[in-house]
Amino acid sequence: MLQKIQETKAFLESKTNISPFVGIVLGTGLGNLSTEIEIETAIPYTDIPNFPVSTVEGHSGQLVFGTINDVPVVAMQGRFHYYEGYSLQECTFPIRVMKALGITNLFLSNASGGVNADFEIGDIMLITDHINLLPDNPLRGKNIDELGPRFPDMSEPYDIDLRNQVINIASENNIKIQQGIYAVLSGPTFETPAEYKYIQIIGADTVGMSTVPEVIVARHMNLPCMAMSIITDLGVDGKIVEISHEEVQEVAKAAEPKMTLIIKKLLAKIYASETV
Ligand code: HPA
Repeated sequence: MLQKIQETKAFLESKTNISPFVGIVLGTGLGNLSTEIEIETAIPYTDIPNFPVSTVEGHSGQLVFGTINDVPVVAMQGRFHYYEGYSLQECTFPIRVMKALGITNLFLSNASGGVNADFEIGDIMLITDHINLLPDNPLRGKNIDELGPRFPDMSEPYDIDLRNQVINIASENNIKIQQGIYAVLSGPTFETPAEYKYIQIIGADTVGMSTVPEVIVARHMNLPCMAMSIITDLGVDGKIVEISHEEVQEVAKAAEPKMTLIIKKLLAKIYASETV
């Protein structure tokens, strides 16, 4: 794996002059952040050695290098999900590569189903913690000591300073933001009513099909993470209705401007504080 990371890193460095400060996984809800990136180079995943190829509708699948208000970033436009058939090592390979390229923070977004009765469709939830209910862990197998420890600490999976900054930014901009725990299941099925109830009973606030593997791998490498989720449907007793991927995308689209604004402000703040 180390060799593959180096090979992919070398390839990408031959295509771009950007040294990215932050890596961003443009999941559902951050689609339009890509329009805010002054793009220097965009490379389709299919052209990148050792990258898997994205298949899901709504994810175009390219790695974008550029700047947002002069802050150098690398952004994944489209991510890899376990339900697509990739191993978790494959799903998280791009995170390894972005770290090798020098990113100091990782921002992620996703869509999820809310199981907290206080949540409303369209809410943004700052992820404070997660529960991995996938039948695997991306770190299973021989540990690569050069990348991180065998038994990584998970006491603060989502960086507290980044979270506090997001809360401040939301409040300064009159954006309602929920906070809570994200549970991940493999999908591709949405949950049954009994499964939503189970998710709620075990202590989560939302459920989705992504993000957790990427955060585990990032934490393995001691990379600080910030993730936000758009509540696109509710798995709450009495509020469960039929949902579709299209509806999820539609709700997420409506919440995009708020999430995009938060990310832009956060980027500017941390870049200013880390480059003084
Ligand atoms: N469950 C799982 N994933 C999801 C959901 C959900 O209800 N909504 C959006 N992504």
